[in-house]
Amino acid sequence: MKITVLTGAGVSAESGLKTFRDSNGLWEGHNVMEVASPQGFSSNPELVLDFYNQRRKQLLEVLPNAAHLALASLEKEHDVTIITQNVDDLHERAGSTKVIHLHGELLKSRSTYKEDSVIDCTTDILLGDVCENGFQMRPHIVWFGEAVPLIETAVEIIAKTDIVLIIGTSMQVYPAAGLMQYAPENIPVFFVDPNPSIDNSNRITIIAEKASTGVPKVIEAIKEIK
Ligand code: APR
Repeated sequence: MKITVLTGAGVSAESGLKTFRDSNGLWEGHNVMEVASPQGFSSNPELVLDFYNQRRKQLLEVLPNAAHLALASLEKEHDVTIITQNVDDLHERAGSTKVIHLHGELLKSRSTYKEDSVIDCTTDILLGDVCENGFQMRPHIVWFGEAVPLIETAVEIIAKTDIVLIIGTSMQVYPAAGLMQYAPENIPVFFVDPNPSIDNSNRITIIAEKASTGVPKVIEAIKEIK
């Protein structure tokens, strides 16, 4: 079966990475637009680079949790694609092989000038670090107000899926939040989140639990689906 998994910050919460909207709209003490928008980068590039440098360091210190591992194990039986809003690499480290990062990847960088100049990056990006054309490097992250290049790929995948799992996302940020409208009607949809934001409907089975316990339960439920 084709399974599409939509994940958000909640799937990585138990690894020790903070979610966004659980902290009063502040992100490590910053207004989101200050550190995650092109305007924020223009007005204070050092602050923005430092913010992502700290997050990159933190990411390198944490590990995938039981939810990431359970999702990776689903690949033994099914054709699984993970469409994540997360910029961490915990799904890949857990062993998932098909992961689409809608909002970019923290362990990659690119030139501020060319979107297709993406390279691996596990160290700090500093003001003055430039690409071969002399343009400042920046994290390979999709900031608020920027296009989401992989959204069309994600739409194509969800349009052909047999099952959807949604895990740990407040489903508030578009276009990711609109992806469900492209899923085929009447397929099973499971939503794991201790504080689910989606209205209860016949279509969606809600498991109001943390990802580490909720995801294994969904995987058991999938075994019953023929
Ligand atoms: N297990 C599962 N879900 C959890 C857990 C957990 N242990 N802890 C918290 N959650 C849930 C919260 O209840 C909430 O619904 O995770 C969700 C996190 O929501 P957000 O913080 O809004 O994160 P997300 O939906 O991924 O945000 C989307 O917003 O700031 C931007 O670009 C950023 O990709 C991000 C996007």
